[in-house]
This record gives sequence, structure tokens and C-alpha cells, in this order.
Amino acid sequence: MAATGKYAVIDPATGKLDRRIFSDQAVYDDEMQKIFGRAWLMIGHESLVPAADDFFHTYMGEDPVLLTHDGRGRLHALLNMCRHRGNRVCRVDDGNAKRFMCTYHGWTYRNDGALEYVPGENEAYYDTLEKDSLGLIGARVETYAGIVFATWAEDAPSLDDYLGDARWYLDTVFNRRDGGMQALGPMKWLEPVNWKTMVDNCSDNYHVPTSHLSSARVQTRWLGRPPLSHEDQFASPNKHAFVNGHSLTFRDADDNTPRYVHGVSKETMRLFQEYHEATMPEVERRLGTLRARRVQLANHSIFPNGILGLRLALPRGPLKTEFWHFVLLERDAPEELKRVIRIGSQANNGAAGLFEQDDVDNWRQVSLASTSRFGRRYPQDLSMGLGHAGPHPDYPGLVSERYISENNQRLFYRRWEEFMNADSWAQIPLDPITARFDGTATMNPPPRSGRAGRG
Ligand code: FES
Ligand SMILES: [Fe+2]
Repeated sequence: MAATGKYAVIDPATGKLDRRIFSDQAVYDDEMQKIFGRAWLMIGHESLVPAADDFFHTYMGEDPVLLTHDGRGRLHALLNMCRHRGNRVCRVDDGNAKRFMCTYHGWTYRNDGALEYVPGENEAYYDTLEKDSLGLIGARVETYAGIVFATWAEDAPSLDDYLGDARWYLDTVFNRRDGGMQALGPMKWLEPVNWKTMVDNCSDNYHVPTSHLSSARVQTRWLGRPPLSHEDQFASPNKHAFVNGHSLTFRDADDNTPRYVHGVSKETMRLFQEYHEATMPEVERRLGTLRARRVQLANHSIFPNGILGLRLALPRGPLKTEFWHFVLLERDAPEELKRVIRIGSQANNGAAGLFEQDDVDNWRQVSLASTSRFGRRYPQDLSMGLGHAGPHPDYPGLVSERYISENNQRLFYRRWEEFMNADSWAQIPLDPITARFDGTATMNPPPRSGRAGRG
């Protein structure tokens, strides 16, 4: 890995992966600079800061960041670090404030980041302090369908280009309704895992019948959900697709079934089906027939650390990840349906979620294997489906032939190498946008009253 000073951790011909990347402190430090210091990172959702002067405390990698909605309707992502000595200027999770006062010496910042007031500006600083250059450090902010992203990199491409053709798939969850989505949460907890294990797991459907056997049986028996066997998984019409670091799995079927998984049971199925049918004309207008009727996005990750919708794997060291779980709901869905989805989402993937508990233990063992002096000599094997992926006539990105494949994992680690080996964004390749985006949905809906604007 370190022989040339460059990272070569995945062998594309064999799928062998150097497992040291899960525990090495120097690799982790490099990731903070080269990945979390330059990628577009999911940091929140407009619905978390709907009104003027609302703020939400979030993170970009390990860095504390304030997502603010200023008095002019613009969004900002501001490093929560006083420019004087570095004290945090805000100590709470969210709220509404026009200003943030540092509680060390009292420097006071507006919620657009500008340094407004310094005690003793005349007396102590003799009027020489350059306040204009001492505002809170701001990141670039852009939004996609209400999800807020930010990057520290001045030279990063637009968010539209960064997501690229992945948006063709993402729209089928995040961009279905004219009224957009709302985020609830987050629920937060710490996991003793490397952040990459949970990202790469987003395309790992192979583990489901084994790891989640008992959870799936409970769901089949008590909720009437379909059984999850290897046989079903191998015969599934689902596929994987990969674009610009983003891993997608999707269902390819015109079976007029509701798009949700969480909360669906034999008792609630009618609610989901009615909602699906009632909203289909709107969804078809927004996304076109192919995406509205045939494509159902399943597990996915947005490079680097956005997973399964609006859920964040925030790195806290090589062997620790802070997990933030939001529930995203269509704003105009019936309240009863929202309630069922909210409860179902937490029952599956919350801190006490049936599926989440199975997963965390796997990720912990995978992370710890990286610390074994002997074990780390032997690479991970990600060879599944090698040579069985490529362009598809209907679906954008690199598409696997089968649902059960490690194509997305191989490409995720290759994307990781591209970021880790690049000196700047100019050296990071981006796939051109080639997908046909039928329908009226765009990156962002036009502003409407009561919505946050974009900065
Ligand atoms: S550290 Fe913030 S005012 Fe001194
Ligand atoms: Fe899982």
C-alpha cells in the first residue's frame, strides 16, 4: 500500500482488498484531508432549518459545522470555531438565533458567518483588527431535493455534476412529490466500526439471508413480509449500479408495488398501496414512465458517507463511527402513513433496529480484523461477479448483471483510491451526465413560501 507513497488497495483483476485501510491511523488522517476535506458531504436537510434564523448543528467529517438559514433565506455551512482562539461559538444541537457569541471572550458572529462585534475593538485592538477577514469559515453549500450538501473544496464540481447520473436513481426516492420531503431526527449513536464498512455494506445484499435470518423470520411471521432466502435473492430481478462513487441497488420490475419497505405489514399494506396508486400520476409526470413505474431504488450510498437515504456515517477515528439516522418522509403524505413509516424505519434501522443490530456486529468484526498483525497480511476477497457488469441499454452507470455482486464494493474502493491519490479535484475523474431525465423533476424545486432558500 505505501510502497510508492500512492494508494493501491484494491486489485481490480482479483477483487483483493488491503484490509489495513480499516484501522491504520495514517490512512484515516489522510482520508480526513483528501476525502472529507474535498468531497460534497451530506450535512442535513432544508426541513431541519425551515424558518429564518434557524440553525442545525452538524459535522463535515470530524469538523463541527453550523447549518444556518440566514435572514435573507440563504443556507450556510459554517465551521463552529471562533476565529480568535478556536472556542466553539455554539454548544447546542439546533435552535433559532441571529447571532452566535463565543463564550470565551465574546466575539460575536452573524448567522451568515460575518464577525459583527468584538469587545474592546477600539481599546484593546487600537482599531486595527481586520474583522472582515475573521468571519466563521464557510463551506460551499448546494442542495438536491431539499438535502443539504457542503464541501470545503473551492475547486469541487457542482453538486449536480458530483451526483451525475446517480440522480437518475436517487430521484425515485427523494424527488417523487411536488411537495418534497421532510427529515425527522437524527437519532445518534456510536459504533465501534470503521466508517467504510457501513458504506460498503449498502450494496451487500449477499449477507441478508444469513446475517438477518432471525430478524427476517420475525418479520415474515409477525408482519407477513416476504421471506428472504438466498434462493429469492439470487433469482431477484434487482441490480446494482455505480456512478461517480455512488453505489445504488435497485429493483427493476413493473409490478405496481409501493416503494416503501419500512413499516409495511399485512395490516398496513392497504395504506401503502392506496398512497402508491393515488400519487402515481404525479410521480409519472415528475419522473417519466420508466423511472416512475419500473425503478425502485433500494439500498444505496452517496460517496463518501451518506447511506440508505439521509443517514450519515460520521468518522470518529479509524475504529469509531458516529451514526446519524434520520427518517425522511414525503411532506404531503397522510399522517397515518408517516407514522407507520417512522416507526417501521426505527424498528429496522434505528439504534435498536432489528436489522441494525445484526449489521453492527459484522462491521465491528470486519474493522477489528484489520488490526490483527497476522490477519492483515491477507486481503479481503471482493471477487464476486468479477467481469459481469457493464453499460446497460436502459439504466445509467456501470450495471451488474445480478443483484448479488461485489461490483459496487470494488468500484467504491477504486473511487476511494482516486480521491486519496489526487492532489486536487482536477485529478479526480467524473462520469459525464448521459442519462435521460424524463419528467419535470430537477435538482431543486422552485422556491415556495415557507421554504429555505439556497446560499
Ligand atoms: S476564543 Fe472566541 S472570543 Fe476568544
Ligand atoms: Fe444488513
